[in-house]
Parts: sequence; C-alpha cells; structure tokens
Amino acid sequence: MNVVVPLIATLGINNKVTFLEKHGTSEFQNSTGAYELDLSLVSNFSAAWRTMNLQTDVFCSGSVILPDKAGRQINVGGWSLDSTFGVRLYTPDGSPGVNGTNDWEENFHELSLLAGRWYPGALVLSNGSILVMGGETGSNASPQPSLEIMPLPAGAGTVHLDFLERTDPYNLYAAHIPAIIIFTHAMPSSYPFLTMLPSGRVFVGYYNEARILDPVTFATVQVLPNMPGAVNNSQVIDNCVSIQPEVPNATWTLERMPSRRVMSCMVPLPDGTMMIMNGAMEGVAGFGLAGDPNFNAVLYDPTLPVNQRFSILNNTIVARLYHSEAILLPDGRILVSGSDPQTPGFPEEMRIEVYVPPYLNTGIRQPQYSITATDFGYNQKFTITNVQVFHGSIANIKVSLVAAVSSTHGNAMGARTLFPAFTCAGTTCTITTPPNAFVSPPGWWQLWILDDVGTPSHSSWVRIGGDPAKLGNWPNLPGFTFPGV
Ligand SMILES: *[C@@H]1O[C@H](CO)[C@@H](O)[C@H](O)[C@H]1NC(C)=O
Ligand SMILES: *[C@@H]1O[C@H](CO)[C@@H](O)[C@H](O)[C@H]1NC(C)=O
Ligand SMILES: *[C@@H]1O[C@H](CO)[C@@H](O)[C@H](O)[C@H]1NC(C)=O
Ligand SMILES: *[C@@H]1O[C@H](CO)[C@@H](O)[C@H](O)[C@H]1NC(C)=O
Ligand SMILES: *[C@@H]1O[C@H](CO)[C@@H](O)[C@H](O)[C@H]1NC(C)=O
Ligand SMILES: *[C@@H]1O[C@H](CO)[C@@H](O)[C@H](O)[C@H]1NC(C)=O
Ligand SMILES: *[C@@H]1O[C@H](CO)[C@@H](O)[C@H](O)[C@H]1NC(C)=O
Repeated sequence: MNVVVPLIATLGINNKVTFLEKHGTSEFQNSTGAYELDLSLVSNFSAAWRTMNLQTDVFCSGSVILPDKAGRQINVGGWSLDSTFGVRLYTPDGSPGVNGTNDWEENFHELSLLAGRWYPGALVLSNGSILVMGGETGSNASPQPSLEIMPLPAGAGTVHLDFLERTDPYNLYAAHIPAIIIFTHAMPSSYPFLTMLPSGRVFVGYYNEARILDPVTFATVQVLPNMPGAVNNSQVIDNCVSIQPEVPNATWTLERMPSRRVMSCMVPLPDGTMMIMNGAMEGVAGFGLAGDPNFNAVLYDPTLPVNQRFSILNNTIVARLYHSEAILLPDGRILVSGSDPQTPGFPEEMRIEVYVPPYLNTGIRQPQYSITATDFGYNQKFTITNVQVFHGSIANIKVSLVAAVSSTHGNAMGARTLFPAFTCAGTTCTITTPPNAFVSPPGWWQLWILDDVGTPSHSSWVRIGGDPAKLGNWPNLPGFTFPGV
C-alpha cells in the first residue's frame, strides 16, 4: 500500500525511502506531496508512513545526494514559475522503527537557482560542488540551455550551452532511448545525463548526442559519436547503447533488448548487473500518449559478451508507465513505485511492490559483515569484521560499492558501481577505497559483500572523499539547517 503517487524515490542514509509527488498539479488534494517510508514497519501501515511537506512543485525536478556528513538530499527545479527555481533540502534522520522529525527545507526568497529549470540534470562534481544543467524555463516553454554551480561561486553566473539550445526540445524527450549504459552508470532518458569520467572530465548525454566537457570551464573537449537510433518520433525501440567514452575512437555498442521499451527504470545492483523494468511499449510520456505497459523485467550483465548480456526474468505485476521508479533497498531487493499516466484505462498507481532479483531467489542465506567506521578518504584501507558467507568461502567473496542515487522518471542521478580492491584474513577483510575523486566523486555508497554465487549481504552506508566543497556549511540562510563539515 502507499499514500502517494511518487515521481521521485530516494533511499536515505537512514535506510528509509523518501517519496516526492507532483504537488499542486497532483489530483490528490489530500496529499502533502512528500512522505517517508520506514521499511521496518511496513506491516503496520499507519506507523510506516511519515508525512512531510513541500512548498513548491517538484514535478520535473532533479535530485542528488550530497557528500556532506548528513547525506542530505537536494532537489532542484520543478514544474512552473517559482517552482522552476526551487532548491529543496532534506536531512535524513530517525532510524528504522523510530520516526525522524526533519522536514524538507525550502526558502525561495533566500535560495533559488539562477535560472528556472524544468527537467534539469544534476551531478556532484569531483571537487564536491553541485552542477545543475539544462531544462526549459517552464513546462514546454523556451529552452534553458545553460548550467550553474551550487553553492554559487563568487561572481559566477550561468554558462551557456549551445548544444542544448540546438537540440531543444528533443534533449528533454529522448524517451526513445530505452537505456544508455556508460561503464556501469544508468541513464534511461529525458534529462541531460551527467557523470564524472575517470579523467576528471564531465560526460553529458542529451538527445542522441554525447560529449565530454572540461570540468572547470565546461567547454567541449570532445564530441562523441551520436547514439544509434533517432529519438524524435514515437516509435518505441529496443535499443540498448553503451560506450566507454574515454577509450581512443570511442563508439557506441548497440545491443537489442528482449522487448521494446520507453520510460525504462534501470537499477544498478550490488553484483554489477543492471535491472531494467517498467515503462511502455507504445507512445511516450503520460497524458494519453503512452500505452501497452511493459511487464518484462530484464537483467543486464555488462561482464558477458555483447549480445549475450540480457536475461529475461519473471514479469512484474503492475502497469507502471509515466513517473514510475525502481530503487535498490538495503537488503538487495528492489522497491518499485508509481505510475502517473493520466491516461484512461491506467490508474494513478499508489501501490508499491518489491521485486526480488534472482540473486535472492536461491535459498542461500545472505552474507554478513560488521563495520564501525563509515567515513573514508581516497586510497585508504579500512576493515570489515565478522565476515560470514553461507555458500563458498570467504576467499571467493566480492566487495562492491553502489552509489547513493535519487531516481526520477527512471533516471537514477548519481548512479555508479565500483568493485574496490580487498584482501581477507580469517573473517576480517581489508578494503582499499578508490584512488581519487575522478573515479569516485565525493559521496555516499552502499557497501556490499557477495558470496561466490553473487548472493549480496545487506548494505551499510560509507562516505568516501569527504565534503571538499564544504556543502555541510551551506546554505547559511534563514529557513535552513546545515550539518557542518
Ligand atoms: C488520499 O486519498 C486517496 C483516495 O482518494 C487515498 O488512496 C490516499 O491514501 C490518500 N492519501 C493520504 C495521504 O491520505
Ligand atoms: C511516524 O509519524 C507519522 C506521522 O507523520 C505517524 O503516523 C506514525 O505513526 C509515526 N510512526 C512511528 C513509528 O512513530
Ligand atoms: C502500529 O503503530 C502505531 C503507532 O503509529 C501503534 O500505536 C500501534 O500499536 C501499532 N500497531 C501494531 C499492530 O503494532
Ligand atoms: C568546482 O568546479 C566548479 C567549476 O569550475 C567551480 O565553479 C567551483 O567553484 C568548484 N568548487 C570548488 C569547491 O572549488
Ligand atoms: C529525426 O531524426 C532523424 C535521424 O537523426 C533525422 O533524419 C530526421 O530529420 C529527424 N526528424 C526531425 C523532425 O527532426
Ligand atoms: C583512431 O582513428 C584514427 C583516425 O581514423 C586512426 O588513425 C587511429 O589509429 C585510431 N586509433 C585507434 C586506437 O584505433
Ligand atoms: C521466478 O519466480 C519463481 C517463483 O517465485 C522463482 O522460484 C524463480 O526463481 C524466479 N525466477 C527468477 C529468474 O528470478
């Protein structure tokens, strides 16, 4: 059961899930538009849901998790007028079984974007500042082909991006690209997709184009080949395209998915695979424009040879069209929510469900470990203790880091999966954190261990790289609290 038709779903470092809903434009006048779900209390409906509050409309906003010590969630942009300038922050608190008291903080008069943005992409840069890019000035309005940095450096303004102006509005409706995978980063459409590359430069994918930007000036360093497949009509296709952007003469690899799909959700899993689900097989977006729900759940394994990477899983059971999300839970399951199709024959969907990936369908008990410290620098060793596996031996475990994300419109902003080096002696394993902020931009990660057949443990949160931009002291303005650095 649910109380909201969410279009943003985020797992907090308190292991609770926040949901944000269209506000003002929602047809449910009884909704505040913001709720937090305590997964430990799902058997007690009234206890499980905490009501939160928003002031402006997050419809078509973007979100990321900050690298500050509180793991705050930031949400920028939105539906129209003041909301498109919105900057909203939430500091996760409470713990499983115990309600938090923090709410979303927002004070438009004190803190707003420089430019109104409907459909902005967001990214934590390697230097710890926040990049916000693109969108339109309002719903189906003129383009906002620029980027801005938060917190705003002294004297800085927006940076114009001619490639977003040229490709507007298609860069918002790249909904016909069912999946783009960059290394193991997920980007299933519609927002400018941003990620830090191992060289320290910024990748941006938009419309059917992609390029690499200088991280200081944001000038284009390299134009990558166009992605295969036109993204400007409503023919839903079964393309999956992937690229290693920084190899010499990088090209897109085109693979065929088992079914065609638009409005896909893609979830990076602890074993390095990607779960693909939800969406439609016909049309685009909501408002009567899409139909034929895709119930086919698909797993993508990037370690297998090209054209052998997809496996078809058990179907999902609820039609989830426009505004559906899928996110990874701390126990390795997937929380699937939403569908706000505004289309006759398809409900505004309040039911949420969990999907159990095959790695939890084997009957094997999940591995366990203990961790005490949670805050690490780069190329630093730390230990986990009491490592226990119930299949194979500790000598054959894997360790993975799955970055904290916030998912909207199937875009898991911040997605990244790493497999750090480690050694084990007895039941203690020593893990080496990633080498630098290019490979691993500052932030929070779910740390997993996996047994020899890929059964994941439960995750613990670790922070790697600190808070170099001192976001924890920001914003020091009326209406906001901040955790310090
Ligand atoms: C709002 O009303 C709908 C039914 O109209 C109900 O399903 C939903 O749970 C209610 N939401 C809240 C927050 O009470
Ligand atoms: C948490 O707060 C909500 C109100 O927002 C309440 O309905 C619920 O019972 C509380 N849960 C617990 C575990 O106290
Ligand atoms: C459900 O939670 C409420 C607090 O929100 C509590 O009063 C009630 O006893 C709980 N019910 C059960 C069956 O645990
Ligand atoms: C990070 O880089 C951006 C782009 O050059 C710059 O505007 C910002 O001030 C930098 N942040 C820090 C903390 O140096
Ligand atoms: C759609 O894309 C195709 C391939 O890129 C191009 O040939 C065609 O002109 C585009 N149509 C429109 C209306 O932009
Ligand atoms: C990249 O392309 C250029 C021009 O076609 C060619 O000369 C060069 O050998 C290629 N490099 C690699 C590594 O394939
Ligand atoms: C499909 O569901 C059945 C019944 O729950 C389960 O036994 C089987 O392992 C599932 N298959 C996959 C590929 O997860």
